[in-house]
Amino acid sequence: MSGTGDGGWRTIFEPFRIKSVEPLHFTTVAEREAALERTGYNVFGLAAREVLIDLLTDSGTGAMSAEQWAAIMRGDESYAGAESWERFTAAVTNLTGLAHVIPVHQGRAAERILFAETVKLGDVVPNNTHFDTTRANIEYDRGEALDLPCEAAGDTQAEAPFKGNIDVERLEALLAERALDVPMVFLTVTNNTIGGQPVSMANVREVRALCDRYEIPLFIDAARFAENCWFVIQREEGYADRTPTEVAKELFSYADGVTMSAKKDGLANIGGFLALRDDDLAARCRALLILTEGFPTYGGLAGRDLEAIAQGLEEVLDPEYLRYRVRTAEYLAQRCWDAGVETVRPPGGHAVYLDAGSMVPHLHRDRFPAHAVVVELYRVGGIRAVEVGSVMFGPAATHELVRLALPRRVYTQSHIDYVAEVVAAVRARREQVPGYRITWEPPYLRHFTARFEPIAG
Ligand SMILES: Cc1ncc(COP(=O)(O)O)c(C=O)c1O
Repeated sequence: MSGTGDGGWRTIFEPFRIKSVEPLHFTTVAEREAALERTGYNVFGLAAREVLIDLLTDSGTGAMSAEQWAAIMRGDESYAGAESWERFTAAVTNLTGLAHVIPVHQGRAAERILFAETVKLGDVVPNNTHFDTTRANIEYDRGEALDLPCEAAGDTQAEAPFKGNIDVERLEALLAERALDVPMVFLTVTNNTIGGQPVSMANVREVRALCDRYEIPLFIDAARFAENCWFVIQREEGYADRTPTEVAKELFSYADGVTMSAKKDGLANIGGFLALRDDDLAARCRALLILTEGFPTYGGLAGRDLEAIAQGLEEVLDPEYLRYRVRTAEYLAQRCWDAGVETVRPPGGHAVYLDAGSMVPHLHRDRFPAHAVVVELYRVGGIRAVEVGSVMFGPAATHELVRLALPRRVYTQSHIDYVAEVVAAVRARREQVPGYRITWEPPYLRHFTARFEPIAG
């Protein structure tokens, strides 16, 4: 999906060639219908081998490079002070400028350790928008997780360049009133919950200034930091000539701490870290790390995982990679628009969100239109997507969306062309797409395990 860096060429392609292949699993419509019946029309219940193109998540599903596999072979599995730990901590400190690096098995473990040491009853942690696990970990420690998205974030069709921004005015009002109850301010880059939308550097700087004024630390949830930096280069004045590495270093220079799920922009299948400036907080977090994750030089990870992440953090900042990465979502969104299917605009970095209303307008909310589209994408073309609507959020849902998350470096342009063709085919037969009713649901997080049945007519 990338043009070549020197411009002028129309052909777009992936900036890698393939050394090792993994076969796809083809099934018939009849087999997929049987699988849907078996799982109660819930694609989370499918075996991966029943899925042709798996767009369930971009987390931990990426393909590693030859250099990462080579690094894995160099993994030093010593319990304490391994060479892999030295490489990992150097890579993180070089990128973030933060002295204390705490490895963890994935992003939510960094959140759990951080909030256990910083959040108490009566505290409030503002964020542009908290990711589910961030919110849950703050609430587990009896704090309040407050979303302060900018105004444009609420309008799926607004073509604003930085819809991931935090609302600085509301943040300022909060700090003016309750600064003593705010242990830290968070910024999630990119803003996953509202569609992988970026945060501008100007917004980060404004938040930093506010944090300085009120002497509150600023934390960055960096799961998709590199994609965010690419958007800054593309869209923000003054950054067009900067490298992704320079932009990332500037971004992190404003932070007192970073939580990271390396399953995204670490280009690894597992892992994460917490990076901190404060010596005392780091000492307390390390003590908790030992209790629940492991010794401070490996956290919950093997030496080989540390190697893969250290290498991944370098590769993810390659401009050719980022151009291809962000272009993939744009390309898929454009193909959907051409077929008359609306998406969240502009497309974010890691996923395309289809507006179910533009695909199955005859289905009312109580018939779960986005779920109906998810089922149909699987039935028609073996594609696994995720409902982000009334099934996931219940009556609180503000939109009925279908997320097509894009694993990193896994699918080629022809796979994406196929996905677009299936989306168009579902839209073309939209009158035949049935709504659904829930026949069983668990008390929490029902989208993972609920069972459904189609409603005729
Ligand atoms: C923005 C953001 N933060 C944190 C997490 C949690 O990371 P993990 O899944 O590695 O625990 C995710 C995972 O999707 C995420 O998207």
